[in-house]
Amino acid sequence: MISTYHEHVRKAYGPAIGRNRRELVTPALIMDLDAVRRNIQFMMQRLSTMKARLRPHVKCQKSPELARMQVEAGAIGVCTATVWEAIVMSSSGVEDVMIANQVGGREKIAALTKAAKDRHLTVAVDDTRNAKDISTAAQVARSELDVVIEVDVGMGRGGVRSVDEAVRLAQCVDKFSGLRLRGVQGYEGHCMLEPDRAVRIQKANAAMDYLGTVVDRLTSAGFDCEVVSAGGTGTYDITGNNPRVTEIQAGSYTYMDNFHGNLVPGFSPALTVLGSVVIQHGNTLVLDSGRKSIGIDFVLPTMIDYPFYQARYFAEEHALFEVDDRCRLELGDVVELIPGYAPTTVNLYDAYHVVENDVVTDIWPIVPRGAGHGGLFAS
Ligand SMILES: Cc1ncc(COP(=O)(O)O)c(C=O)c1O
Repeated sequence: MISTYHEHVRKAYGPAIGRNRRELVTPALIMDLDAVRRNIQFMMQRLSTMKARLRPHVKCQKSPELARMQVEAGAIGVCTATVWEAIVMSSSGVEDVMIANQVGGREKIAALTKAAKDRHLTVAVDDTRNAKDISTAAQVARSELDVVIEVDVGMGRGGVRSVDEAVRLAQCVDKFSGLRLRGVQGYEGHCMLEPDRAVRIQKANAAMDYLGTVVDRLTSAGFDCEVVSAGGTGTYDITGNNPRVTEIQAGSYTYMDNFHGNLVPGFSPALTVLGSVVIQHGNTLVLDSGRKSIGIDFVLPTMIDYPFYQARYFAEEHALFEVDDRCRLELGDVVELIPGYAPTTVNLYDAYHVVENDVVTDIWPIVPRGAGHGGLFAS
């Protein structure tokens, strides 16, 4: 099923190969492979001085090709947001895959436990009921999964809410067949957008201190925490330096969207959307790259050549900018935009135009895209 999808998008977008990055049918998603390579190398170089290893989050990029590049560069495996991403990555040769979220729902749990029969999968749990459901399905599938207990370290999303809850859940997981407790996950997502680095350091350290307390309590209750997984792009060099943390889940560093922007230096934007000027009236410029072709979550996209203009509005098919005399764009011109948020941009497209030296050299499928299972349930 995955290879059929690969063939389909390569056929559909293949005619773009050989074109310059500014000569594509717009809106077009462009991955600058030269910049991606530099970002990957820079991350590996930075982490080489830290104890934690890298387990990049691939929900941002949804590309088996890119995941394999990250593993070849030294990542220990990947983490995913969904069971479908995990199935794609593990079927594409990534050997150690962690689903850094809860998997809920009978059929998704069945897909997870079936996939675990011949793959090394780890899943996050934060509730005894969910752990029990996974264990029951694993017995039916005759498979075994690794489990990490997710701990809420301040974000208030997933995760057990207290140290005692963590210990109680560990005791249950330990008794449930088909599950092997490997450690904890504590994603400090509430720190990611903190612009003041000193405050971010303080908040991330506080989050990891708390995670360390949970690890200590679990250890003294007889549960070894071989895996302590945490961190994202905005905190990789803070959390990665924490001696308790064994792996970092950063993902967006590969693309560096506007959300992550200058939070951490050394990385450069590697993902853009090419748009065309389709309307021009006075100072109002409208591009065809609206919100159906670019992620606008948290922070708005900006034009790469004109970073000083703030977008007025992103409608479905229209990106509106108010410009002035500094703008040289004319009706019919193209311009590249840096997405506000890369993960929700990527999810809108079938494939990347992979660009090297400004020329499209390959088409890489985005898989699985969308919220559905995309046929993976049947596979
Ligand atoms: C559990 C978890 N880990 C890691 C990340 C990666 O964060 P980033 O893409 O900012 O590197 C996320 C992002 O949402 C996440 O939800």
